[in-house]
Amino acid sequence: MSDRLFIFDTTLRDGEQVPGCQLNTVEKIQVAKQLEALGVDVIEAGFPISSPGDFNSVIEISKAVTWPTICALTRAVQKDIDVAAEALQYAKHKRIHTGIGTSDSHIKYKFNSTREEIIERAVSAVKYAKRYVEDVEFYAEDAGRTENEYLARVVEAVIKAGATVVNIPDTTGYCLPDEYGAKIKYLMEHVDGIDKAIISTHCHNDLGMATANTISGVLNGARQVEVTINGIGERAGNTSLEEVAMILRCHHDIHIDTNINTQKIYPTSRMVSSLMNMPVQPNKAIVGRNAFAHSSGIHQDGVLKNAQTYEIIDPKDVGIDDNAIVLTARSGRAALKHRLHVLGVEMTQEKLDKVYEDFLKLADKKKDITDDDILVLAGADRNVNHHIKLEYLQVTSGVGVRSVASLGLNISGEHFEAAATGNGPVDAAIKAVKQIIKRQMTLKEFTIQAISKGSDDVGKVHMQVEYDGQMYYGFGANTDIIAASVEAYIDCINKFRK
Ligand code: KIV
Ligand code: ZN
Repeated sequence: MSDRLFIFDTTLRDGEQVPGCQLNTVEKIQVAKQLEALGVDVIEAGFPISSPGDFNSVIEISKAVTWPTICALTRAVQKDIDVAAEALQYAKHKRIHTGIGTSDSHIKYKFNSTREEIIERAVSAVKYAKRYVEDVEFYAEDAGRTENEYLARVVEAVIKAGATVVNIPDTTGYCLPDEYGAKIKYLMEHVDGIDKAIISTHCHNDLGMATANTISGVLNGARQVEVTINGIGERAGNTSLEEVAMILRCHHDIHIDTNINTQKIYPTSRMVSSLMNMPVQPNKAIVGRNAFAHSSGIHQDGVLKNAQTYEIIDPKDVGIDDNAIVLTARSGRAALKHRLHVLGVEMTQEKLDKVYEDFLKLADKKKDITDDDILVLAGADRNVNHHIKLEYLQVTSGVGVRSVASLGLNISGEHFEAAATGNGPVDAAIKAVKQIIKRQMTLKEFTIQAISKGSDDVGKVHMQVEYDGQMYYGFGANTDIIAASVEAYIDCINKFRK
């Protein structure tokens, strides 16, 4: 008989804090429904006091999903807790996640406080949250660098105050797996009343140890893990859900399992990557493009004889189906609708008609339409409200000649044209845009990625542009990589605050 491990997904809170990955409420609902289908136990839907957008998303996600507990983050501050409780009013199962920094550096530099006062603030936040909900989770921020003896006192005090779950975050991703596991073990052995609460892991990946630390925490008694899809999150990210779920599935000997429907892992990964415009590194465990690609002759030979020789996971178990129907120009609306449904995307008939129209245009340009193409098409209307739009673009480039670009922009209904030369077609096109948009902006990052394979593929471009001391993130997707680059650049400009 296996022990049950609860999966707490924070893609929509800690994951969404990544600059440039912000989702609107409709997109968050789409992800939340997919997380529900995936089988997560808790969805951390946002930090309601941080913005009206976050507040609204918690409300709408609460209405949209049924089974998972909806969790809202707060600081150990009464106003935060009031607002979180209000945002959770429609949740069928609700949890408030409150907490405070417990490491000496947080106590001294963040709060200019003392250890005793921090315990008092932690206890009163938990008691205050208990007025609203039964299920209260407490986080001891920077627990990874908090001395174990003091941490045990904090944990004991908040459990006594009514915390049902206690989160031990390695906020800075500092701990070694043995050290983090020993911390959880110490708490399991030294905290009076530890059996009244679930201990949760929350590991960051700054030193590439988030998953190892999480598993070490689980082996030492934690029964909830806080994770994100594709391991996204601030800086180097959080522990990735798919890695933890598949480690436990592969290592039956641990006798701990989750409620995750592993066949939904890959579609969920693609959806999150596509909606957040956050590419998955090709060699990412479980969901990376190369995760199951055997290129060496010895490996290929072994896999052909028997997949078990080099594969510890059957790709189908995580929802990768190489035989899945590929859509082409001959596919009808119903086939597109079905594929969107499999990918977790539902839409109105009107929007489906528009996506189908775009689908046919794309199918004219490239033979096979992949799931990633479909997700890009489904999200294309994100730009409809942009006040600057690319009307046309013409470039000439080649070897031994200087590239020339001419383009037209529509800015709030007015038409502008410019032409420029550059050391390549993208450089020329960006210079032409700059002639029209006369602002002091600097291109800081520029990545081009083909969605799948083939010279007819759709290229995705991510850009970061610095303007007026702020960083803006843009995205473009097009079979013409120069057009995708200009679209990404314009996407950044459309987001400028002034
Ligand atoms: O990393 C962290 O400490 C957190 C807490 C707010 C839970 O995200
Ligand atoms: Zn975190």
